[in-house]
Amino acid sequence: MLRRKVKDYYFYKAKREHYAARSVYKLKEANEKYKFLHRRGVVLDLGCFPGSWLQYCAEAVGPQGFVLGIDQQELKSLPGPNVQSLQADVLALDPEEIKKTRDAFDVVLSDMAPQTSGVKIVDHTKSIELARAAFLIARELLRTGGTLFVKVFQGEDLPVFKKEVEQAFAQVRFFKPKGSRPESKEVFILALNKRP
Ligand SMILES: C[S@@+](CC[C@H](N)C(=O)[O-])C[C@H]1O[C@@H](n2cnc3c(N)ncnc32)[C@H](O)[C@@H]1O
Repeated sequence: MLRRKVKDYYFYKAKREHYAARSVYKLKEANEKYKFLHRRGVVLDLGCFPGSWLQYCAEAVGPQGFVLGIDQQELKSLPGPNVQSLQADVLALDPEEIKKTRDAFDVVLSDMAPQTSGVKIVDHTKSIELARAAFLIARELLRTGGTLFVKVFQGEDLPVFKKEVEQAFAQVRFFKPKGSRPESKEVFILALNKRP
């Protein structure tokens, strides 16, 4: 019952506020707390479909900023002239394709999630694979001082993955947004201040 209430609250809020998905409130909560999206910022959004993070980022960076969204699913529309999209599998994507839009990014976001099987270890392993792909892209394309915000399902490989991220960023912490269902294994890693 409680679970349904949580879902309904964010679902209807997103509808009312014209966002494409309830996931927007996870990014919004993190950004309101840690303020990593800035006017004129250049943002890469991995796993962007159906586009609520793109909508939020487009507003946050403003008309002089830029947002590139990538997803294996095709986006129906873009939320503004400062947004572009690429339909691609991030696991098979050459970063050079991304560089055709911008050489460097201020923020890399990843809300990528695997199709869940219900088998926790399988879902966790696939999720780590996606998060690591986002991390490798961030390591290559983020400017020094930049931010990575990436979703991952908790499990036994998470501490090792967090250590890898810590080698590339000065501050790394877990973030569990209110919009994330309490029983969900989902958690975000927020990595601030990319090292040179
Ligand atoms: C939870 S949804 C993202 C919601 C999005 N942040 C929003 O606010 O609208 C996860 C997305 O990750 C995408 N995805 C999963 N694996 C991917 C991959 N290997 N390459 C590209 N996109 C992927 C899925 O297609 C799905 O659209």
